[in-house]
Amino acid sequence: MSEILIAPSILAADFGNLAAATHMISESQADYIHIDIMDGNFVPNISFGFPVTQAIYKHAKKPLDFHLMINNPDNYLEDCVNSGAKIITVHAEVCNHLNRTLHRIKELGALAGVALNPHTSVDVLKNVINDLDLVLIMSVNPGFGGQKFIENTYAKVKEIKQLADAADKNILIEIDGGVNGENAPLLVKAGANMLVAGSYVFNSMNPSQTIQSLKNP
Ligand code: DX5
Ligand code: ZN
Repeated sequence: MSEILIAPSILAADFGNLAAATHMISESQADYIHIDIMDGNFVPNISFGFPVTQAIYKHAKKPLDFHLMINNPDNYLEDCVNSGAKIITVHAEVCNHLNRTLHRIKELGALAGVALNPHTSVDVLKNVINDLDLVLIMSVNPGFGGQKFIENTYAKVKEIKQLADAADKNILIEIDGGVNGENAPLLVKAGANMLVAGSYVFNSMNPSQTIQSLKNP
């Protein structure tokens, strides 16, 4: 079985002490730091902007995984890279020229990801499967941490795995929302190889140990 990548979401951290949260993730077995950018427009919540992500980047010893829950993501791709983005994921629902956006992300030197809301069909990826590095499946409706995992996600993971296998394409399949110790092994079994976890990590007694337990199920 290939390695499972873990990306704890900083959204669930204490914003008064982001340096400590960044340090904790950096010293843990995590592979990425998941950065949720929300604009109060595509999603009904605002998280933080680039001055904050630059501050996180200064303290980070792990690569940053940007998840853009915003309209017009094309306007902010450079800002992500200047904040240390190794992965940039845009939502299929807001990209009129998804192929162009994915190629721009790669030109900027980052891995290119596409996120799908729970209602969005996997079919939208059929014609860009060879242009992307990662698919992020939302397992909650985006906008907030701490929501309940949507069970239909397993079926979607399998569909994406099939699409990628048929194209003979090795991609990251990242799951975001409500991930915990119970659903993580089932997600991996379905074909996921990258897991985001916010509240499950940061609300636990020992966040670093929780990251370790997700990494080695
Ligand atoms: C939700 C965000 C998630 C969020 C996950 O819109 O995209 O990354 O931080 O938080 P949990 O793990 O608490 O559902
Ligand atoms: Zn996210």
